[in-house]
Amino acid sequence: MSLSYLPVAFLVRPFLRSQFFEMVGGKPVQDNNRLIDYGKAQVQARRSDEGNEKCFRDARDFLSRLAYNDDKKSGWHPTDLDLDTESLNMIIAGADPFSQVFTGAIFYLVHNPECLKKAIEEVRSTFASSSEIIGGPQLKSCTYLSATIEESLRRLAPVPSHVPRVVLPGGMTIDTHYLPAGTVVGVPQYAVHHNPDYYSSPFTFSPERWIPSPENPQSAIDEMRKAFEPFGLGIRGCIGKNLGYLQLRLSLAHFLWRFDVRECEEEQGLGAGRKGLGIGREREDEYQLWDALGAVRDGPVVEVRRAH
Ligand code: HEM
Repeated sequence: MSLSYLPVAFLVRPFLRSQFFEMVGGKPVQDNNRLIDYGKAQVQARRSDEGNEKCFRDARDFLSRLAYNDDKKSGWHPTDLDLDTESLNMIIAGADPFSQVFTGAIFYLVHNPECLKKAIEEVRSTFASSSEIIGGPQLKSCTYLSATIEESLRRLAPVPSHVPRVVLPGGMTIDTHYLPAGTVVGVPQYAVHHNPDYYSSPFTFSPERWIPSPENPQSAIDEMRKAFEPFGLGIRGCIGKNLGYLQLRLSLAHFLWRFDVRECEEEQGLGAGRKGLGIGREREDEYQLWDALGAVRDGPVVEVRRAH
């Protein structure tokens, strides 16, 4: 945060949650405040009455663990403000990228019926009932499902732009370019995930590219992985990566096991590219994301029918 920004932030902050601001800002500000209240309510539920406290002390969700596990070395105890912040952070960071990849995967599957057929066949032949679908080796053995998730993460990385980093004092050289201290650097995920140097036919949705075969040796897949960063990289990379993969595997497997799915006729093309939408947005088979640190998107609307 720059110094000139600080006084403005302090001046504006007290009014951010006021009725005046809600009136001026309209629905986005009201929605934002509802989200903050929801995050706080989760903390209060874990702090408030005795019965709950007992229950949450033993609970295994992130927030309860944070609320009731003091730092053993320092004895540090999180305040309600710490927990409010963490609660909100996890609701946003944990829910939004997941829902984006999930809806995007459904978009690509209904637009690629062959892929949908393979994914459904695999899930329904691996599990005899939906109650069998739990995290573990059987779920991980669903190679096509995993490849569908990887390909969806490639096509619609939830943080499509770069996650910025600042060059520290002393500067640094990246790929022969010297960058002085203070330079903001980053690699947009959308760009690297669609670079034909790493991914052949980058605008084709192809889970097969993640599955080793005589035509697609493991060494080629390893090369692709070097340019695959949907969860970011390094020490500030996503802390929820494993949970994110589990959420995606479980949800997609349950969905495909239970339902037959197709795009809703009345809403055909919702979420897809089309002419006139903007430069680079004309591909009718590409799910459209609008960068907002996370990503804003629309659709798809699908019809489902119970399969069992
Ligand atoms: C499909 C699922 C997910 C994707 C694609 C995803 C992606 C990302 C990305 C790209 C970043 C920025 C990394 C960087 O700065 O280099 C990030 C950060 C973060 N993610 Fe996720 N995420 C997912 C799920 C989750 C879940 C389930 C949680 C927690 C419950 C979570 C918590 C966080 C947190 C706390 C950070 C900030 C880490 C830091 O700055 O040290 N994410 N995530």
